[in-house]
Amino acid sequence: MKTTKLMERIKSKIKNLSSKYMLLPFLFLTTPLAAQTESSTGISQTTAFYVVIGLLIIVSLLVILLAFNIVSLLKAVVQKEMSPEKKASMEKEPSWFAKTWAKWNDLKPLEEEQDIMLDHDYDGIKELDNHLPPWWKALFYLSIVYAVIYLMVFHVFKSAPLQEEEYEIEMALAQAAKSNMEQTIVVDFDESNVPFNDDAEALADGKKFFEAQCGMCHKADGGGLAGPNLTDDYWKHGGSMTDIYNVIKNGVPNTAMISWESKLNPLRLQNVASYVKSLRGTNPPGALPPDGELYVEESNQ
Ligand code: HEC
Repeated sequence: MKTTKLMERIKSKIKNLSSKYMLLPFLFLTTPLAAQTESSTGISQTTAFYVVIGLLIIVSLLVILLAFNIVSLLKAVVQKEMSPEKKASMEKEPSWFAKTWAKWNDLKPLEEEQDIMLDHDYDGIKELDNHLPPWWKALFYLSIVYAVIYLMVFHVFKSAPLQEEEYEIEMALAQAAKSNMEQTIVVDFDESNVPFNDDAEALADGKKFFEAQCGMCHKADGGGLAGPNLTDDYWKHGGSMTDIYNVIKNGVPNTAMISWESKLNPLRLQNVASYVKSLRGTNPPGALPPDGELYVEESNQ
């Protein structure tokens, strides 16, 4: 009688479960299907990838849920079969988590606190002679072990670089990368024949640099502040592409206009010079009055 009732319960539970998880196999079926239709409708592969991952996560969560359900079902079955005494004894036992918690905290139960009470009494505030909690001690011992390993690795066997050495290594690497880069930039022009570069990307690069580094003296729009207006037809040192490149590269001695050669590689320099050249006639508001001599554009510049 008892067993038939139990069987019935299990059956109904299984029926319940199977209706809940009926959809699972369909999910698996639809995953590749969905991925296919997506790529044909033009959704990027990364999107499809995340959709698939998302579906997989959902499916795994459902599987975990199912597993929990089965475990609780089995537990119910096992408990049903147990004798009442055994059941009672099981219920009294604290859970694994509670046991671990108590062990790692080494908590004395409230009732036993008298045993560790010291006779210090500060206006009614008493002191317990508690142990340091084991988790704390474990961390302490771990840090000692770590310190020994650290000492061996960094100071005895010197198998890894210390901070300062690390810094020097990185600096050397950067230096190497830099000179490497400078070597690979081979240009077929210098200040005597540098051509104007009208490439939009080059001009944008020049503009970015100009606004960040030159704007403080020439104003971000080139209208001039401490340095002269760069947008008009009057130049102190000539307004041709080669003149401008020359001034930026070598600077003007004894003025605030320094040489930028060490800070700009030749291509960047060409971009900045091209950008300055392109400012001609932009007529920004509040620009400084003309300075220097009228420069008449030559036909080839
Ligand atoms: C600290 C201020 C300062 C900075 C920063 C500066 N300049 Fe100058 N620049 C000047 C001064 C001052 C002059 C005028 C020099 C002279 O009297 O001949 C000048 C002159 C020039 C000239 C020649 C103008 C002419 O009339 O012939 C050009 C071109 C120029 N600068 C471009 C630049 C570029 C490009 C940058 C950024 C990479 C830059 N400057 C950064 C102060 C500056």
